Amino acid sequence: MAPKKKRKINIFDTTLRDGEQSPGASLTPEEKLKIALQLEKLNVDIIEGGFPASSPGEMRAVQMIAEAVRKPVICGLSRMLPGDIDACRKALEKARRKRLHVFLATSQIHRQYKLKKGKREILNMAAQNIRFAKTDFKDIEFSPEDASRTEPKFLNEAVRTAIDAGATAINIPDTVGYTVPQEFSDLIRFLIKKNPELGKSVYLSVHCHNDLGLAAANSLAAVLAGANQVECTINGIGERAGNASMEEIVMTIDTRRDFMDCYTDIKLGEITKTSRLVSHLTGMVVQPNKAIVGRNAFSHESGIHQDGVLKKRQTYEIINPKRIGLSGNQLLLGKLSGRHAFSERVNKLGFHLSGAELDKAFSDFKVLADKKKYVFDEDIEALLEEQISEVPEVWKLNYLKVTSETGKSPQAEVRLSWRGKIEKAVSEGDGPVDACYKAIETIARTGARVTHYGIQSVTGGKDALGDVIVKLSIDGKEVAGRGTSTDILEASVKAYLFALNKVSARFFKDEEQSPSPV
Ligand code: KIV
Ligand code: ZN
Repeated sequence: MAPKKKRKINIFDTTLRDGEQSPGASLTPEEKLKIALQLEKLNVDIIEGGFPASSPGEMRAVQMIAEAVRKPVICGLSRMLPGDIDACRKALEKARRKRLHVFLATSQIHRQYKLKKGKREILNMAAQNIRFAKTDFKDIEFSPEDASRTEPKFLNEAVRTAIDAGATAINIPDTVGYTVPQEFSDLIRFLIKKNPELGKSVYLSVHCHNDLGLAAANSLAAVLAGANQVECTINGIGERAGNASMEEIVMTIDTRRDFMDCYTDIKLGEITKTSRLVSHLTGMVVQPNKAIVGRNAFSHESGIHQDGVLKKRQTYEIINPKRIGLSGNQLLLGKLSGRHAFSERVNKLGFHLSGAELDKAFSDFKVLADKKKYVFDEDIEALLEEQISEVPEVWKLNYLKVTSETGKSPQAEVRLSWRGKIEKAVSEGDGPVDACYKAIETIARTGARVTHYGIQSVTGGKDALGDVIVKLSIDGKEVAGRGTSTDILEASVKAYLFALNKVSARFFKDEEQSPSPV
């Protein structure tokens, strides 16, 4: 008997929309574009760029992505409102391939308390708005929000109404991460039975949240039941506990190809790089034990395991780390290494720099190589990721001196340059980092409040680069900054200034007002 043909599963990436809804993960339009270009290299099928009606920044981000990213379908999110649909039309004008994603809650609890609408009203709203959108969009996805808690009979009515009105994709969200695999696959089978075009001429998508840690399992159960599109995010970031993690879904389909009847077109070798870029730009650290992309995902601590892996890697490793683009802690070049060797390594790591960017990266590398005995690939990646973040350096560290003595409060002297001027402040604090931040605030006067501070080392060893993530709340909005240096106080200051520079970039572009300190 001929082997059964495998089904292609579309990967719909919502890192830039649902992922960015993670508390504190806000991205500038330029950062979103950077991630979208990397998602294109990863070969995702659809990129949900944002929610254009929600802010001028979101509108600009989706417009920039629609213009620059040519291969994947670019999608915009919209409520069932003509104004939102118009905003998506404007945002996606320049897209080569575009999709509108409209959503409307269908569950009893959302109907009664959030929407205050009856079933009939909801069905009419969906039909009218999908028909209205059809004049501008051929490709329309409909999401009955909170589908997994909707009465199946009514959910089916909503799905049927949307298909009849012209929807080309139906997405079944487990909005609050409530379902379990068996129940979710039963729901998917029920919908396919009632609407045989699902998973065939009309895409059948799923969108699972991770509140019970089941997002990937629920998505895969739905795929096995007939869904042919999965909505997911890099590193599983997203509302509350996050969304289904792209790398977990894709690597399960690939690793268990003996069991799964499907495949994806994802370029697996780009996974690690994409994960690091998203973590760097959102300021959301990947937990060390995170499947596939966590720093411990391929390290073996127990002697028995190490022995097994040395004898035969597959004894304790189900994925070859090289497959996801993990090069390992490769020893790089020393301080005597030349520009040519450095440039070759940079290219191998997947970064393509202009001449000027390479000059800057090479001089940063030389500074680092002077301080650090061994420079690993991870160090180079940290340097380059900092450089490619493209946030204009309005605030720059000019000088830092910190003194700390038993029994006395630490003191920091900070000099910052801002628009050609250098300003200095000296402050005391509860600790050396606090003293640095107080000195910065004396100069910058932003009213920022530190809501999170975290530090980890990029590689092992006492001379490792310290990688600091700080989250600030300014005028009620959270912004994340990241900084690396072999000196952890300098890394802390760089992270703080990075966050301030992000706010400055947004302020100048969004508000189009005259310059202000932040
Ligand atoms: O979780 C959800 O229901 C959503 C919809 C907008 C698809 O994000
Ligand atoms: Zn969601």
